[in-house]
Amino acid sequence: MTTMTNHFQFPSDFVWGASTSAYQIEGAPLEDGAGPSIWQRFSQTPGMIHNGESGDIACDHYHRYRDDVQLMKKLGLKAYRFSISWSRVLPQGTGKVNEAGLAFYSNLVDELLANGIEPMVTLFHWDLPAALDDRGGWLNPEIADWFAQYATIMFTKLDGRVKSWATLNEPWVVSDGGYLHGKLAPGHRSGYEAAIAAHHMLRAHGAAVTAYRAVGQHKIGIVVNLEPKYPATDKPADVDAARRAHAYMNCQYLDPVFFGRYPTRMKDVFGLAWPEWPQQDFDLIQQPVDFIGINYYTRSVTQHDDAAWPVKASAVRQTQATYTETNWEVYSQAFTDVLLWVKERYGNPVVYITENGAAFYDPPKAEKGAVHDPLRTDYLHKHISAVRVAMEAGANIQGYCVWSLLDNLEWSLGFAKRFGIIHVNFTTLERTFKDSANYYAGVIASNGEILREVDYQADPNLSQTMILDADQ
Ligand code: BGC
Repeated sequence: MTTMTNHFQFPSDFVWGASTSAYQIEGAPLEDGAGPSIWQRFSQTPGMIHNGESGDIACDHYHRYRDDVQLMKKLGLKAYRFSISWSRVLPQGTGKVNEAGLAFYSNLVDELLANGIEPMVTLFHWDLPAALDDRGGWLNPEIADWFAQYATIMFTKLDGRVKSWATLNEPWVVSDGGYLHGKLAPGHRSGYEAAIAAHHMLRAHGAAVTAYRAVGQHKIGIVVNLEPKYPATDKPADVDAARRAHAYMNCQYLDPVFFGRYPTRMKDVFGLAWPEWPQQDFDLIQQPVDFIGINYYTRSVTQHDDAAWPVKASAVRQTQATYTETNWEVYSQAFTDVLLWVKERYGNPVVYITENGAAFYDPPKAEKGAVHDPLRTDYLHKHISAVRVAMEAGANIQGYCVWSLLDNLEWSLGFAKRFGIIHVNFTTLERTFKDSANYYAGVIASNGEILREVDYQADPNLSQTMILDADQ
């Protein structure tokens, strides 16, 4: 173990940002001509979201975006990452544009730029237009064209003012939560569907990148969530389980984008449900991207588990560790490990950390204008430091965005799981900086220099224990 050295400095153009997504913060899902999304429908279905909550109001960002931009300015953010609600712009998913929906995002972009904040736009963060779900959603091969048409509308309207685009946010979560296990919208439970949805998301990504090259001038990439796997023991069954989990979660999307093929172990995971796809699909998927966005929250210590369908792998709880409110182990070394793994495996691509953060218990009401969140502050300190260690070791990381700017609707878990560095009182909608927001403002103002002030231990070498190659 070594301590961070003192000669490293974040580059002066390092992008310090914060992230949100449309359905989680906007509210007003049907206002001004917007069409419903699958999340709007899912939330109206009893039992799908904790406490019967929904994004009907959420943070009311749709009406308060100007005030929220002032909060971003106060934080000193260089960039703000948000997503577009596809069905606000195209109520039917294809066809006629809803000008009022388009205007909302155009105005948001102008407001950000007027305040010196770079917009980073994600085209799809899970809220598929319900009208497209009625036509099969991600199971219909035509969706690659639908997505490219929608993307082209956004590029044409905003490229230039927007210089950073991401096609999909965390496609793994959509196929795993939405089509395999049914915990997220659209709530299906089928291995066959999960494999098909995953593939069409990748085709849609490729089609949007191709469309961007025709009309856009700046950067486009894809955002994936990575969760490195460490076998619980060196028994072959556990190592094998960790390799399957690694193929499924970490390589399923990046291998096709970078190598034009899926990891071979995907067949072990899905069995008969894993289809063969034509080469032309991979040619579409393997478009050069300008960056990849990485969302990191936790690692997984993995054991063989016959009951865990279909991967036959489950996580082993670590007795000495701190866990967040979403039951995720706090383990920042794995963040360095996974960033170095990406550097090695994919040829050191440009990386933006597009999400990183933690849900911890915060009081529902801020007292006297303050919210003390020492665990989240410590989490951010350790994880931003872990990014720094990976950069010292040569990883090409150009920005970091905290998840999340605001407490928001944590999907099926409702409002109880608070990830924000800014507290939201969901009765009054009042916003209050938490201690972690003040800490992060200090990180930004010092361009990362205050990270040195607390000793941080990390191994700047790629861990020997993390699973590196799923296909071995
Ligand atoms: C998603 C966010 C989500 C966060 C915390 C990511 O999977 O992109 O929408 O709120 O993690 O669970």
